[in-house]
Formats: sequence, C-alpha cells, structure tokens
Amino acid sequence: MSDAAHAVHQVPSRLLDASKCPKPHIDSFETYKKLYEESIKDPQKFWGEKAKELLHWHKPFETVLYGGLEHGDVAWFREGELNASYNCVDRHAYVNPDKVAIIHEADEPGNSRSITYGELLHQVSRLANTLKSLGLKKGDTVAIYMPMVPEAAVAFLACARLGLIHSVVFAGFSSEALRSRIIDASSKLVITADEGRRGGKTIHTKKIVDVALEGCSTVEHVLVFRRTGSEVPFSAPRDLWWHEELEKHRPYCPPEIVNSEDPLFLLYTSGSTGKPKGVVHTTAGYLLGAAITFKYVFDYQENDIYGCMADIGWITGHTYIIYGPLLNGGTTVLFESTPVYPSPSRYWQVVAQHKITQLYTAPTAIRLLRRYGDDYVKGHDLSSLRVIGSVGEPINPEAWEWYYEVVGRKECSVVDTYWQTETGSIVLTPLPGATAMKPGSATFPFFGIETAVLDAESGKELEGNDVEGVLVIKKPWPSMARTVYANHHRYMDTYLNVYKGYYFTGDGVGRDHDGYYWIRGRVDDVIGVSGHRLSTAEIESALILHSSVAEAAVIGVHDDLTGQSVHAFCTLKPNQGETDVNELVLQVRKTIGSFAAPKKIYLVNDLPKTRSGKIMRRVLRKIVSGESDQLGDVSTLADPSIVPVLIDSVQKS
Ligand code: PRX
Repeated sequence: MSDAAHAVHQVPSRLLDASKCPKPHIDSFETYKKLYEESIKDPQKFWGEKAKELLHWHKPFETVLYGGLEHGDVAWFREGELNASYNCVDRHAYVNPDKVAIIHEADEPGNSRSITYGELLHQVSRLANTLKSLGLKKGDTVAIYMPMVPEAAVAFLACARLGLIHSVVFAGFSSEALRSRIIDASSKLVITADEGRRGGKTIHTKKIVDVALEGCSTVEHVLVFRRTGSEVPFSAPRDLWWHEELEKHRPYCPPEIVNSEDPLFLLYTSGSTGKPKGVVHTTAGYLLGAAITFKYVFDYQENDIYGCMADIGWITGHTYIIYGPLLNGGTTVLFESTPVYPSPSRYWQVVAQHKITQLYTAPTAIRLLRRYGDDYVKGHDLSSLRVIGSVGEPINPEAWEWYYEVVGRKECSVVDTYWQTETGSIVLTPLPGATAMKPGSATFPFFGIETAVLDAESGKELEGNDVEGVLVIKKPWPSMARTVYANHHRYMDTYLNVYKGYYFTGDGVGRDHDGYYWIRGRVDDVIGVSGHRLSTAEIESALILHSSVAEAAVIGVHDDLTGQSVHAFCTLKPNQGETDVNELVLQVRKTIGSFAAPKKIYLVNDLPKTRSGKIMRRVLRKIVSGESDQLGDVSTLADPSIVPVLIDSVQKS
C-alpha cells in the first residue's frame, strides 16, 4: 500500500472542546504553519525570544547564534550564563514547593512515592554538597549507572548544579561496556546503587560496577544508593554510602553559574564503527530544546501528570523524563518496571492510578501489549490521557491504530516523535491540537527545524513532495550535539562532512504528496532492537573477542515484535572443534549487554566478500529475509559459489 493510501486521522474533537480539555497551546494547523514559517524565516528571533521565555538566565545572552554547520563551530546564546538545576528545580521550588516533581512507580505495584519540588531542591543540594566535598569541580565528568529510582534524577541535577558533566550509562550495559565509557570520559566518580529491581528480578548493579572498575585508574570514589538493602561488596574508602554522605551535608547548595556552551552531559551512542561515541550536549541550547518540545509536543498544561516509560540511560529518559518535564515545572512519572510485570496491564494500572495525561513509550512495547490482547487494557480508566506518544523506531500502522483506538479510544492525539541522541530533542512530530495524523508518519518538522530530503548519491536537495532520499537538517538548532567527546574530527565526519553544509541524520526518509515525512530507517550500519540503538560493527567486535571466532558479520533483520533483531554470521578459526553458539551469545552479553545478544548465530565456512575483502552484508540480509531470489548483482563477490552454501546453512538452521 502506498503512503498516500493510508488513513488520515483528524485531531480528536475532544482535545479542542474547552469543556473537556484545556485549550491546546497550538490549536490549529494554520497556527502551526504560521509559527513554523516565522521560526524558519527568522530563527534568531524565534529562538532568542523562546530562550528568554522558557529559561531563567543569570546573565543574559547577546548573540543568539554563532557559527554554523559548515565548520562545526555552532554556539547558541554565547554570552549567556545560567544553571540547569536552577532552571529545573529552584525556580519552581520557590513558587510552588509542594508541587509534586517526581512520582516514582516502583517495580512492585502499589509501591509509589512522590517527591515535591521543595524536597527535590533539598536532595539535589545535599548531593551537590557531597560531590563538592569529594573534590569534584566544574568540568569534571561523573558516571551515573543507576536503576530507575528518583535518586538517579537527583544525581543528574546535582552534577548540573556544580557544572559537572554527567555521563549516564544505561544500567543494562555490561561491566566491560561501562568500563570503556568510564575510561573514555575519564570519569572521576561513579554514582550507582546496591542493586536494581526490574520485572521482579534483581540486577546486581554494584557488583557490575566493581568489575568495571578493575583496572580503571581515574575513578576515585563510588557513591552507592541503597535501593534493595541487600548485602553487597563494599570497599572503603573508595566506596561511600549515599545515605551516610548526604546526611552530613546541608540541604542548600548555591548553583554554579555556567556559560551557555559549557557541556551539560555526555551520552554514549552507537555509530557505524565499533567504538561508541560520547555525544556532547551543552547547557542552554539543550535545555531550550527540551523545554520547548516538551511544552508543545506533549501540549503540557499546568496540572498534567506526564509519564514517559523510557529508561534514564537513554536520551529519551534524559530529555523527556528529567529535563523537559522539570524545566516546565511539571510532574513526571519515573517507572521502574516493565510493561508486562506483574501482568500486561501494568501500564494501564499506572495510568489509571496516577491519572496520567500524557504517556510516552516505544513501538516495541506497543506491539508487545497489542499481542496480549485488548482485555488487558479494558477495564482500566484511561480517560485522563490526552496525548499518547511513540519514539525510537518506526511504528507500523497496525500498532499505531491499536494504540490510537484501544489505548486512546480515538480521543487522544498520537504523537509519533522522530529524533536522535544527537538532536537532543524532537525534530519531527505532530502537535496534539494541530496536526492531522497519518499512522506511521512522524508528520512535520518542529518549530525552528529546517529539514530537507537529499538524494543519497548526488547529495542534491529534492524539492517538492513525493520524494525519497535521506533526511538532513539545513540549519543549526539549539539542542544539536556540539561534538563527540575528545573527537571533534569524528563528529565532523559522521554528521557534518557527509553532505557539506547539512546535518546528516543517517536515516532514509520519504516526503509524501501532502508533505508528510515517513522515516524509512537507518541507511548506515546502525540497527534498532526494541528501541535500543546498536551498531553492527560493535557486535562484530564483541564476537571476534571470542577465542574461536575468526570473522563475524552482523545484520539487522526485520522482527515483528522488536522492530529488528540481531543475526550474526561467524567463521571459526581452524581446528576449533565443536563451538557452542551459546558461548558466542554470552560473549556479546559480556562485552556489551544482554540487550545486544544475537537472536541467531550461523556458523559458516566463509562470508560473502568483494574482491577487496569488504563483507557484503546486503547479501546476508537478503538470504535471511528469504529473498535469495533477489540478491542482485553478486558478480562482484570474490567467490560467488559461497552463496548457495550460505542459503543452505540459513535454511537448515
Ligand atoms: O533511526 C531513527 C530511530 O532511532 C534513531 C535514533 O536513535 P537514538 O539516538 O537511540 O534515539 C532514540 C530516541 C530518540 C534514529 O536515527 N527513530 C527514533 N525515533 C523514530 C525513529 N525512527 C522512526 N520513527 C521515529 N519516531
């Protein structure tokens, strides 16, 4: 079916009915268009005004934008000074100290606790004073490896309060992956927990940190939050208990005022090569992107209770669990569990219990819950919901329709939001009160984001509608990543030198006859499994660490549930005897983490290579997807006779 044939859903009339819902910030497509055009015509005026409106400045900026994509020297709000934690906490705590900032929905149902803005200010201050007492100074890097507890948010904000750069590592990463991120960022401190709880299972967080720190010389201290209270290995004086240290310090710490362009955080993400990149976000621009998109994309209103089901270890958790909601003075739900624990009704119980107004999750969770059937949704009062969001991968129209009809009862706007770790905040999205939705399309660019479709080969801009190519952004925007940590060259080569003068997203895209954007998926070696971004090269590097593996080729294969799944082809070194593929899976778990484990491993005698030795993954992808009759030109293969052998191995496995 062509995109044009897809259904169009108008903005649900309930959202525009003042007797039922608060008036949306943007309540018609004409208003969106007008504002969008203004933002593109004069971005400096638009962003300058929004920066003053949405952020508190200790010293005003003079220059809105300096530099550009050509040279990779972008700086926003240059002379301005501010503090991220002041913007997220203090200014709300002064006006509204008793307003709930964070609701923690713990793994065990019925176990929730709320933290007000006043309490948050005290906690953040105590931790900031602790960090100060440990000798940490502006510009130092702190690794955060924590489960989904409010103290993780406190850790982000305490770092920001002192101008320390947080480097959050998703707590599903293995010791080895954590170690390499700690070393790359020269982190001086690790903030962690004794254990984590997820889906009824215990995660041995502190033990993983201990292994990661073997041979890691930069780390001076490990601050351990007590989540479960179980006995865990503890080595004083390096290790310190969170509760003991915080008690020693006073509940107010003046914020360290930083420059707009001082780094706020690093977040490692996968690219085309084996080594993850430490994407650097700076303070003011990132905060502005988080604040403005949160306000408009989720149509945030004063009394809303907003719930994002992502993990704080990924960019979605950074921008839309912590920074976006708190910058707006909102109430954010921090969910520690899984969509299916203790039953596939969990999300709906949480929505009903906390009267959540905006729910934000990933297509993989939506597909999973759809499989369990509507009965798990029915019987829960979901009438508080106005906006339901999707992020992280393309959402197939069937899952979209289910989300819209069964969860949203056709009374909620579905916002399919497209963005990346590097964009910092949402770049393509419908607006709840304004945009007619097409299931599977992220619709239109957000304010101030000038997108274009380029022909992948020639790099020429494809004007007009009904075009297919790669997605680029034409002008700098405030929340774009500024560099790759200690590797600006790699930043330029990955994002800004591919098509000179443009920011390259790495995604294929179509713009249909109505101008709607449809993300087709990555055009590089990045794959998405359950919304987790993985690099095929990174998994290949992990596999060849195993003593029997000679070569490995990893591909992403379509998967109805997880979007894509990891399939690996390995050749073995001579005289290996029997090799158990489970050992190879274990190797990936150990090197990266369980979420990267291949679903399937094929042991083969040879890989399809060009005469120059380049592995042709395209051939492997076709074979695995059962499209061996559409292999295309295989005459460039060094040895075309291996193709039937490979087909045979895949069919037999
Ligand atoms: O391929 C796109 C996909 O996720 C990639 C970015 O991954 P990450 O940096 O981990 O950030 C994910 C959360 C923002 C993109 O290059 N992606 C993200 N959102 C969508 C999407 N693909 C299609 N539709 C989306 N809504």
